Amino acid sequence: MKLFSSVNDVQNIDSLVAEALALKQNPYAHQHLGKNKTLGLIFMNPSLRTRISSQKAALNLGMQVIVMNLDKEGWALETQDGVIMNGTTVEHIREAAGVLGQYCDIIGFRAFPGLQNRDYDYTEDLFNKFVTYCKVPVISLESATRHPLQSLADLITIKEVWAAKNPATAETKKPKVVLTWAPHVKPLPQAVANSFAEWMNQADVNFTITHPEGYELSPQFAGNAKVNHNQNQALQNADFVYVKNWSSYEDYGKILNDGKGWMMDNEKLKLTNNAGIMHCLPVRRDLELADEILDGPNSLVLNQADNRTWAAQAVLKNMLLTDKF
Ligand code: CP
Repeated sequence: MKLFSSVNDVQNIDSLVAEALALKQNPYAHQHLGKNKTLGLIFMNPSLRTRISSQKAALNLGMQVIVMNLDKEGWALETQDGVIMNGTTVEHIREAAGVLGQYCDIIGFRAFPGLQNRDYDYTEDLFNKFVTYCKVPVISLESATRHPLQSLADLITIKEVWAAKNPATAETKKPKVVLTWAPHVKPLPQAVANSFAEWMNQADVNFTITHPEGYELSPQFAGNAKVNHNQNQALQNADFVYVKNWSSYEDYGKILNDGKGWMMDNEKLKLTNNAGIMHCLPVRRDLELADEILDGPNSLVLNQADNRTWAAQAVLKNMLLTDKF
């Protein structure tokens, strides 16, 4: 694997999940793989989980890790070609990525969308340029339209919890998984929702998306998922509920309403099949998700965060094994 930017870069998602769960049982079994190899983690935006879990995953594999908040600690980046750089930008992505690729064997890169220009964001211009110019294997730490390490951790969590709840039938019985939109005060990217939908559409689950009208995801990501604008109907008999806000794709980057009535709480939990409640974090308590859920027995948010390490370690292990450095 030279690139991990979406589910489409994975040959077999079930094998990758199994690999992650095996690493969770035996984290230090492959320390020889990362000896004298360096992982660079390059951030254009803030992070807690992605930064630390990727670092931990690399250390478990015997790698060394360099982290840089390029947006704050680097030179102001120019990303467009053919411009005379007589303004505020100091270094072109061609040189910046090229240099970082000389110092690192694998690079993780995070760059959020601007949410101003949909066409530009959805071309993944910045991420793709970074991949092109750094010339080493790249892992997306969240790009303009996707967050694949999060989605892999989410799938690991669903598989793990489903197997524990249904030891005899987990392989044959599909869980009902619902992605529900949640209120927020700031316009957020569609990346987590897009990516979760993309992975669930390839996983062995019954998948439904629920959101107010106007928050339809790009058809590229919603795929053949069932969409229901009635949240209470969608939640009926759900085994897993993934709670996430996203701004409008259609009216790009906009918040369309106050989201009143869409927060997941214990009343809505009663509609489900005692569902596990998921969120990628960070979460705004009592706005996106009720305290009573986050502090209750159905919350899986810490399980998901824990599985971020094993997701990253499975991807890194695959890259270390398949690439000749
Ligand atoms: N879920 C997630 O990606 O968290 P961070 O933004 O803190 O890395």
